[in-house]
Amino acid sequence: MAYILGIESSCDDTSAAVLQDGLLLSNITASQAVHEAYGGVVPELASRAHQQNIVPVVDQALRQAGIEKDQLSAVAYTRGPGLMGSLLVGVSFAKGLATSLNIPLVDVNHLHGHVLAHFIHTAGEDYNPPIYPFLCLLVSGGNSQIILVKSYKDMQIIGQTIDDAAGEAIDKCSKVMGLGYPGGPIIDRLARLGNPLAFHFSKPQIPGYDYSFSGLKTSFLYSLRDWIKDDPDFIQHHLNDLAASLEKTVVDILMKKLLQASRDLKIKQVAVAGGVSANNGLRNAFHEYARRYGWKIFIPKFGYTTDNAAMIAIAGYYKYLEKDYCSIAAPAYSRIDM
Ligand code: KG4
Repeated sequence: MAYILGIESSCDDTSAAVLQDGLLLSNITASQAVHEAYGGVVPELASRAHQQNIVPVVDQALRQAGIEKDQLSAVAYTRGPGLMGSLLVGVSFAKGLATSLNIPLVDVNHLHGHVLAHFIHTAGEDYNPPIYPFLCLLVSGGNSQIILVKSYKDMQIIGQTIDDAAGEAIDKCSKVMGLGYPGGPIIDRLARLGNPLAFHFSKPQIPGYDYSFSGLKTSFLYSLRDWIKDDPDFIQHHLNDLAASLEKTVVDILMKKLLQASRDLKIKQVAVAGGVSANNGLRNAFHEYARRYGWKIFIPKFGYTTDNAAMIAIAGYYKYLEKDYCSIAAPAYSRIDM
């Protein structure tokens, strides 16, 4: 029987999860409210909070799984990409624990973890994961990528943003409107009450499967400035419509390239992952494309959209099965491709 402990600390969530032979037993996450006052993640504060959270989070994950640390077969951890100070807390903890227990250490690419979130399942739960190869739209605060997933370890980025990520663009536009941080969930909530066709913002014209969101951000800002000249309370008067129109623009941009990739590669299994995959407009678009284009779609449970250790544990489990371990000397990395 293999018990894998997964550890995630790449940004502002400290998370630990335990798997038993690939089945999820526990997934505990401590989020960091400390950043809200700053309108974004403050790296130094994030790493300090990870230091405070890591031991209680791992302890709780083991307790909830009903096992002792001596029963662990391996420790899987996020090696990168992410904030270096944050990563180092999880990496150091994982290395220390694996060494003290004399068990293998498995490094996981955080982005692979997001994609493999579709393979997380508990005992007795319906489990219909994607079959390789499939396409995955990975959309978060730091990434907007279309990934051709050929196996758990063979993933090819076929398109990605050349500037801002989708989540980053939504967060920045929300900040311009004076809303809180992170803006994504707020925009999502307001958008439910607004007219998505009320306003039009510029859409990028770039070749291939790449994305660009910086033009949308600028178009949103300049449009608002013009409208506010005529009506100083324009934002308050049109908040829901602005949110709905912004959300629709982002979703349209994302789906257009994804459809193009699906057609060109003749792949109809299409997944979505990352923080922005919690967005209702994007989820609805996936359902609509499934109906319209015969896609088989894979949308993660809300709890697995944002950073979590269950996805790191499952990615680590597949590597563990192949004895694909890593050395204790393996450094964390802040940036990487797939
Ligand atoms: O994957 P994630 O948790 O980590 C980072 O990349 O940091 O993604 C966070 C991003 C943020 O930009 C946040 O605003 C966005 O995901 N997000 C959403 C929603 N929930 C989170 N965006 C749109 N709609 C949502 N419901």
